[in-house]
Amino acid sequence: MRRRYKMDWGLKNRLSRIIKSDGHTVMLAVDHGYFLGPLSGLEVPAKTITPLIPYADSLMLTRGILRTSIHRDTDIPIVLRVSGGNSIVGKELSNEGITVSVEEAIRLNVSAMALSIYVGGEYEHQTLINLSKLVNEGEKYGIPVLAVTAVGKEMSRGSRYLSLSSRIAAELGAHFVKTYYCEGFEKIVESCPVPIVIAGGKKIPEQDALELAYNAIHRGACGVDMGRNIFQSEHPLAMIQAVRKIVHENASVDEAFELFKSLKRKRM
Ligand code: 5RP
Repeated sequence: MRRRYKMDWGLKNRLSRIIKSDGHTVMLAVDHGYFLGPLSGLEVPAKTITPLIPYADSLMLTRGILRTSIHRDTDIPIVLRVSGGNSIVGKELSNEGITVSVEEAIRLNVSAMALSIYVGGEYEHQTLINLSKLVNEGEKYGIPVLAVTAVGKEMSRGSRYLSLSSRIAAELGAHFVKTYYCEGFEKIVESCPVPIVIAGGKKIPEQDALELAYNAIHRGACGVDMGRNIFQSEHPLAMIQAVRKIVHENASVDEAFELFKSLKRKRM
């Protein structure tokens, strides 16, 4: 039987804003610019993100995009990316530090803080210590921490690697983990004592991305934290609604894809 530790009220309350009462969540990841710059689909963040907000359970982004591109009256839980200091053209992707103080996260009224770990990367130790320090701060102020099991430029995404990485994140105190879907995913879930959300990864055809979401949910993920497969779709609004149908309404891939096609026809 899986036992979850009893979280402090504030921490649990914040996490409940992200992971809904059905135990599932559709997080919209739009934090990519912190190391990728103005990638396709996020050149003008507000233009892409604003119409998607009503369909997302939370937004994962950096403080820069939060302050400049999200209206301050917006009622959506924020998962703030607080690691960075690297770039796609830099020497070593794993060379990340903590970029935001916990006071700043509180000022921004966030529901969680997110940070990448690079197990097996050149700066593995540094990123694991970053996670541990962030959890210490998060526990102090009741802010949950999402550990992202980053894979770097060349690292593999097999289940052995991802389960090692996810378990280490949980052992160091992450309150939930973001990883990738892969063959043997259920084993990753089984050996990770905190909830797991999956990243969507690089843009693939919509039906395939829906299948990815379906497989992840049916093999134990509590939700998705999807970015490119939503905002790089030619029909992002239709795509996010189709993803929701799988995550929150237990729809099949066919049902969700039918919804996608009908919303696409209506240009939604
Ligand atoms: C990068 C991140 C990204 O936000 C996330 O992986 C992006 O999601 P997607 O792969 O679905 O575009 O955490 O490390």
